[in-house]
Amino acid sequence: MPNPRTFQIKSFGCQMNVYDGERMAELLEAEGLAAAAPGEADLVVLNTCHIREKAAEKVYSEIGRLKREDGSRPMIAVAGCVAQAEGAEIPRRAPSVDIVVGPQAYHRLPALVGEAAAGRRAVDTDMPLASKFGALPKRRRQGPSAFLTVQEGCDKFCTYCVVPYTRGAEVSRPWAAVIDEARALVDAGAKEITLLGQNVNAWEGEDEGGRTQGLDGLIRALDRIPGLARIRYTTSHPNDMREGLIRAHGEVETLMPYLHLPVQSGSDRVLRAMNRSHSADRYLRVLERVRAARPDIALSGDFIVGFPGETEAEFEATLEIVRAVNYAQAYSFKYSPRPGTPAATMEGQVPAEVQDERLQRLQALLNAQQLAFNRATVGKRTTILVERDGKRPGQRVGKSPWLQSVHVKTDAPLGSLVGVDVVEAGPNSLRGTAIPAEGGVSFRNVPARPEEIPAFAGMTA
Ligand code: 5AD
Ligand code: SF4
Repeated sequence: MPNPRTFQIKSFGCQMNVYDGERMAELLEAEGLAAAAPGEADLVVLNTCHIREKAAEKVYSEIGRLKREDGSRPMIAVAGCVAQAEGAEIPRRAPSVDIVVGPQAYHRLPALVGEAAAGRRAVDTDMPLASKFGALPKRRRQGPSAFLTVQEGCDKFCTYCVVPYTRGAEVSRPWAAVIDEARALVDAGAKEITLLGQNVNAWEGEDEGGRTQGLDGLIRALDRIPGLARIRYTTSHPNDMREGLIRAHGEVETLMPYLHLPVQSGSDRVLRAMNRSHSADRYLRVLERVRAARPDIALSGDFIVGFPGETEAEFEATLEIVRAVNYAQAYSFKYSPRPGTPAATMEGQVPAEVQDERLQRLQALLNAQQLAFNRATVGKRTTILVERDGKRPGQRVGKSPWLQSVHVKTDAPLGSLVGVDVVEAGPNSLRGTAIPAEGGVSFRNVPARPEEIPAFAGMTA
């Protein structure tokens, strides 16, 4: 197979894969390869997700689809968490795969491509002690909103989860490396940075003065970068939601009023079986403190229904915690047994029909809450970050501070902050009218005052 000249990267799963996909693209471009349209690339990288069975199986149907009409195929690389979990098993099952590269080894992708071009199958799922980040090229052009991985891996070992096995142990990137990369992203056009980590709020490092800092310290340092208008972070664990970080939500203007804090279940028995090491009540108390610091904060979460042994009453406890919290957004999943995790072999696996029925009930409640949250912003004035063109002429789409998509008629360029009045709300997006910025006055990057925003507590769907 000749050395590829063009590439395509397809990322599945979480935002960290999106970030890794961007870094792989930069790496290949630095080697002289050019990005190509789907179907036309000499090299296709499938950047895979292993979190649930459905996601993991997708890679095999994707591989099948890469065959061209004339019977030829591109060079195929499987990257990401399926690569890490299944390694050399992948080419055994799908012989057209040339390269397997894990999430901690992708800085070696160019060398692996060379191997494959020389006719050797190349598998690299090492988790080297030295971080891959140092071996990656500089950041390049950016859209208005960028991801930045600051922490990877997980030491929590929830019994359903593959992440500790596919992404490895918790590692924080050093302070200076993160700040340098954030500056480079802003120089390249980013107005918003979302800090990423499987347990991002467990981030820890030493600042220039040798002082130990947590994620809040890092956020406060990023807040001082000129031109960076918005900071977000995801995903967090309730047990790592420390006082300083909670306080930052009330004090740092660029830190957006949005928190993704998964709880997974409302039943203490299930939470124990999941090894979550917190109770439903402890989670609620954390949120109480967050809301006290930032009353208008939009809350989001992850839920798993049908965990092994989950009874109807235990499932109802999940509905109950959802009612108590009132989420602006959420992700919910049927439990999916993952090979090698403790829960996969637990007794009392819940039948698919029961899981389906519970998921439907949970999602009905979560959808109603999301719609209620969106509706409560109608009539409010706020700021959006314009991120892309809308479908209709003259329309742009931006994000509200609460991460809602807002459609607006405006000719403001991508990356600008535009004041809007929210006039209409649907389940997944809002419509707003732009407020003209008189005399070039730019809108401050602050949401409407908290007291103008929906009083979430006590709001029932
Ligand atoms: N089955 C179903 N959902 C899972 N998640 C993680 N592992 C599993 C699994 N085995 C969900 C959790 C997690 C999110 C990223 O994916 O809710 O927070
Ligand atoms: Fe998985 Fe639990 Fe770690 Fe989240 S905290 S990545 S769910 S093991």
